[in-house]
Amino acid sequence: MQSVHGRSGVVYLLAALLTAPPMRSGEPVRARHGMVVAQEPLAADVGVEILKQGGNAIDAAIAVGFALAVTHPVAGNIGGGGFMLVRLANGRTAFLDFRECAPRRASRDMYLDSEGNPTKDSIFGWRSSGVPGSVAGFETAYQKFGSKPWANLVNPAILLARDGFPVSKSFSDSLHSAQEMLSADPESKRIFLRGGNLYREGEIFRQPELAGTLQRIAENGAKGFYAGETASRLAGAMAANGGLIAAEDLAAYKTIDRQPLTGTYRGYGIVTAPPPSAGGVGVLQILGMLTGTHYDSDGPDSVKAVHYEAEAMRRFYADRSEYLGDPDFYVVPVKPLLDPAYVAHRRKTIDPDRATPSGLVEPGLPKTLNAGVDWKESKQTTHYNVVDAKGNAVAVTYTLNNSYGNGITVPGLGFLLNDEMDDFSAKPGAPNMFGLLGSDANAIEPGKRPLSSMTPTIITRNGKFFMAVGAPGGSRITTGVTEVILDVLDFHMNPQAAVDLPRFHHQWRPDILYLQNGFSEQTAAALKAMGYEVEATGGVARVEAIVMNNGTLEGGTESRLSGKAAGY
Ligand code: GLY
Repeated sequence: MQSVHGRSGVVYLLAALLTAPPMRSGEPVRARHGMVVAQEPLAADVGVEILKQGGNAIDAAIAVGFALAVTHPVAGNIGGGGFMLVRLANGRTAFLDFRECAPRRASRDMYLDSEGNPTKDSIFGWRSSGVPGSVAGFETAYQKFGSKPWANLVNPAILLARDGFPVSKSFSDSLHSAQEMLSADPESKRIFLRGGNLYREGEIFRQPELAGTLQRIAENGAKGFYAGETASRLAGAMAANGGLIAAEDLAAYKTIDRQPLTGTYRGYGIVTAPPPSAGGVGVLQILGMLTGTHYDSDGPDSVKAVHYEAEAMRRFYADRSEYLGDPDFYVVPVKPLLDPAYVAHRRKTIDPDRATPSGLVEPGLPKTLNAGVDWKESKQTTHYNVVDAKGNAVAVTYTLNNSYGNGITVPGLGFLLNDEMDDFSAKPGAPNMFGLLGSDANAIEPGKRPLSSMTPTIITRNGKFFMAVGAPGGSRITTGVTEVILDVLDFHMNPQAAVDLPRFHHQWRPDILYLQNGFSEQTAAALKAMGYEVEATGGVARVEAIVMNNGTLEGGTESRLSGKAAGY
């Protein structure tokens, strides 16, 4: 077993996220009634069709989720997990946490070798998977909000799996990139790599085993996944290969219905992801630290804007490393972290002219809180948004973690498994795949959910839907989503222009300001002169957004990808 080294994790992430330089169209897709923005066009079309048939945004979101599991297996899944944020037109909100959880046989040091060093078993192999949550999440969403027959929402995915769909250039490229990992598993090699005769653009890709698994879900709901043939095959394959997920883990899995985090920014209402996502705390802290700084006076992606945003990011990621984890297992100090006085204190430590070295920025809550005394209170991921004609909005981010998860397909079931266990902190101070550090708050415990960066967010204006936004991109999700929110709210950009703007990222450690290709030499030089270590990157969060503009829905999806904003 190899040790995971800090920078190698980051390099790994960058390789997974590497994208071509952005092509900018600048113009969003516009629609009057309903809209879906997703990272794969066939799945976006499935969602629009459900909306046209009178389904609501939640119906469409469920159908898109199942369709992406077929057409976008790099991240769309039934073997992973995620979060669904719902805001109904009447103001009711819900946050469905269907994040994977650690199996009962998981233990705190399970990814350390005999010398106490982290291994790669949290990323590769059968032991890297948490108990999948996506099917339970979609069923819970359906039970709470669905209006169309359940089977109608699964059927489009079954047809896409059974009859196949033409392989797009981006899917073909992605399979080529993942060839090494997928080849390591015989079932993945057989299905996704056609035994080594890789799919070319335009060829039809059929997944009969996955169609069978989806059929059982269509007929039996979540029981068609967590019990019966699917569960027994999955648990059997785990047992045969040294994995930890047992039939009891599957039977016990539950979606958790959490209160979304809420806040305000310049008169907009923000509804966002609570722990076990760090994302919502990140968005609200960063927006709070920027308030009153006039960070925006020189325009988007100016040296001043990048500096203030990066310093706010740096401070949030320091807090993230110490305080955030699964609130059902650890007292997460959300209120103290978002307390205006604390946020103002953090803001005051930002030097207007200089970068603050990360060595001088620590997790910032007072130590009495740090001890837990007063805290009690009440590589590849994908994101899509749906808004229906009534103004109901849904933002879903779900994932297998790495691209194609751990690369293992369960024999006979046709779906890939996640490697979400890597989102736990295997050891305090040891970075995970995304270079993120963690503490006890995010240590492994049976049944616990790993800390996430996924940040599905919905924004309101005057009590009505204004924006739905989210992204894949590992640790870069939270910063990418926050930047696009700022680009729309403060710089008045349309969602297409906002998602196409070059992005940047700082996560405290490593102490590096990542600038996406597209920033000028002068900007990079000015930031270096302020004390930043600057590194160019192709890997950024690929943000998807829908914005309501005077009664018209505008959708933006990154033009450097093959996603689609579709509406009617
Ligand atoms: N697996 C990526 C995340 O949840 O942040």
